[in-house]
Amino acid sequence: MRHSFLAAGVLSGALVLACSGQAQVRKGNPSVKMQPYGKMPDGTAIDLYTLTNTSGMQAGIITYGGAVVSLTAPDKSGKFGDVVLGMDTLDGYRQEPNYFGALIGRYGNRIGHATFKLEGKTYTLPKNDHDNTLHGGTQGFDKRVWKARELGTAFGPAVELTFVSKDGEEGFPGTLTAKVVYTLTDANELKIEYSATTDKPTVLNLTNHSYFNLAGAGVGNNLEHRVTILADHFTPVDEGLIPTGEIKPVKGTPFDFTKPTAIGARINQDDPQLKFGKGYDHNWVLNKRNGVMGKAAEVYEPTSGRVMEVLTTEPGLQFYTGNFLDGSVKGKGGVAYPFRAAFCMETQHYPDSPNQPKFPSTELKPGQTYHTTTIYKFSTR
Ligand code: GLA
Repeated sequence: MRHSFLAAGVLSGALVLACSGQAQVRKGNPSVKMQPYGKMPDGTAIDLYTLTNTSGMQAGIITYGGAVVSLTAPDKSGKFGDVVLGMDTLDGYRQEPNYFGALIGRYGNRIGHATFKLEGKTYTLPKNDHDNTLHGGTQGFDKRVWKARELGTAFGPAVELTFVSKDGEEGFPGTLTAKVVYTLTDANELKIEYSATTDKPTVLNLTNHSYFNLAGAGVGNNLEHRVTILADHFTPVDEGLIPTGEIKPVKGTPFDFTKPTAIGARINQDDPQLKFGKGYDHNWVLNKRNGVMGKAAEVYEPTSGRVMEVLTTEPGLQFYTGNFLDGSVKGKGGVAYPFRAAFCMETQHYPDSPNQPKFPSTELKPGQTYHTTTIYKFSTR
């Protein structure tokens, strides 16, 4: 099924280009294409939605885990390349342990000792990362089938995904209805809008776990990427990667990315925090205000010239350098993904916030609507 939509904004943009007589006329109509991707063991159909914007950039999103399975961006010579790691099949996604491209919930990152208190009640969660809960438990949102609906917005092709998480699922209270809208805008942005409501007080922290390699998925490692993170502080962790509660200045540490710095420049320094993470696997406290859209990070890859900017309404960024990749997973096209084959920039509230009274709250109450937005914007230099 292929459906092209003609939203007012898109149309007027096309006319401006046509009238100005420029050579770089649009490569095509923005579209959303849906096709079957596979079946779950119980027969549930999984679909692939391919969003194409006017410049020809494409994003593939599957209803299993709401995962971004492909994302093509032009390099400095205009050649499109897939910049996210992933698998070739549904079974590949069901078996790999790295959360490639997936939506993460109900609680992104870790909750210490797999427990938290809310309104006087103690909740116990599955332990799937030593003594802690990681990425929502053993059956997090990344392993669920989402309902999808094609959307056409004035900004570009879009798909809306919905998942209803039952009261008590993975130990969390409240029936949570989560919605995620992926839009591939005509400004070459992958925009992700998360919203949720609950029928009982709960905690949540939704994010996306795409692994980026701006040289192209499967091309070497991430060490030459130049990273800027607009954060003067980060949250140090213990051996289990649970924040100690301290908000520490990055100045004078290998965590200072306030100026563009290659990932590889300091990753092997003798630093206890880098040892705990086997590299970078930490939450940066963004300088921008919580709840307000602003720039979080920028990454530049010199051989391709690709630039990725990250903008978000969230207060934190988990910068993870693929330290658990070890070559054992063969991804798209059968290519093995080595140690540090890519990096993640998971926009979020801080890890373990339900147990950290000084961190911004992750509570959601009935009657409130959770709403966060993150944009990954692509260009070249
Ligand atoms: C997050 C965590 C990492 C790791 C990855 C998935 O980024 O912080 O420690 O668990 O997810 O492998």
